[in-house]
Amino acid sequence: MLQAYDLHKSYGRGSSAVQVLTGLDLRVEEGEFVAIMGPSGCGKSTLLHLLGLMTAPDKGEIHLENSRVDHCPRTRTAVRRRRIGIILQRFNLLPELSAMDNVEISLQVRGLRKTGLVDELFEKLGVAHLKGRKPSRMSIGEQQRIAVVRAMAHQPRLLLADEPTGSLDSKNTQNLLEMFARLNREQRQTIIMITHSADAAAIAGRTVRMKDGRLLD
Ligand SMILES: Nc1ncnc2c1ncn2[C@@H]1O[C@H](COP(=O)(O)OP(=O)(O)OP(=O)(O)O)[C@@H](O)[C@H]1O
Ligand SMILES: [Mg+2]
Repeated sequence: MLQAYDLHKSYGRGSSAVQVLTGLDLRVEEGEFVAIMGPSGCGKSTLLHLLGLMTAPDKGEIHLENSRVDHCPRTRTAVRRRRIGIILQRFNLLPELSAMDNVEISLQVRGLRKTGLVDELFEKLGVAHLKGRKPSRMSIGEQQRIAVVRAMAHQPRLLLADEPTGSLDSKNTQNLLEMFARLNREQRQTIIMITHSADAAAIAGRTVRMKDGRLLD
């Protein structure tokens, strides 16, 4: 489903440049649930931004469902909208819109309309009572769950999640992980999840470890 070859990414230029990814390879099969673990600052979010086609690698290639998708901005945007759902570490909800409007706008950008799935997701994640509320008036854990609804509303083929349980209590963590596991099992949803929690990683079918800008075998 997804192949990344020799990914390089740095921030800044010249003497202040920070080399974050240094030749990273990753292959994820259709229907796989992969957890990525590694120390803070090792480049996990940077990798997820690249896989989510939010930015381009300095070097290397990303292929999704057998075609190269990283090189041109227009392709990246189209593929991201159609086939990828991403839950960012900082959720990037629009603060002035209600939870439901945040989800609806994300569907509109994709040329889609709201379906019953959206209400179902709000229910399942225990945030149905927050549909009309703005993120600025929610707890961080509530915002995180709205970001999950938004990422899944268009039924993406590939779901990318950056510490999706990082701000949740144990009950909501359990609930979210069970939902991911069920989606993966019953609908063969491909999931790549960054986590610092060994318990969360245990739900995934495979865990890869990252260090110094690469994955360890
Ligand atoms: N916009 C940026 N400009 C400069 N450096 C950056 C930028 N974003 C990240 N970095 C640096 O790149 C490195 C990797 O950052 P990244 O956010 O990918 O780490 P991470 O593994 O996700 O960490 P964490 O577990 O804390 O979320 C860090 O050393 C960070 O300081
Ligand atoms: Mg991070």
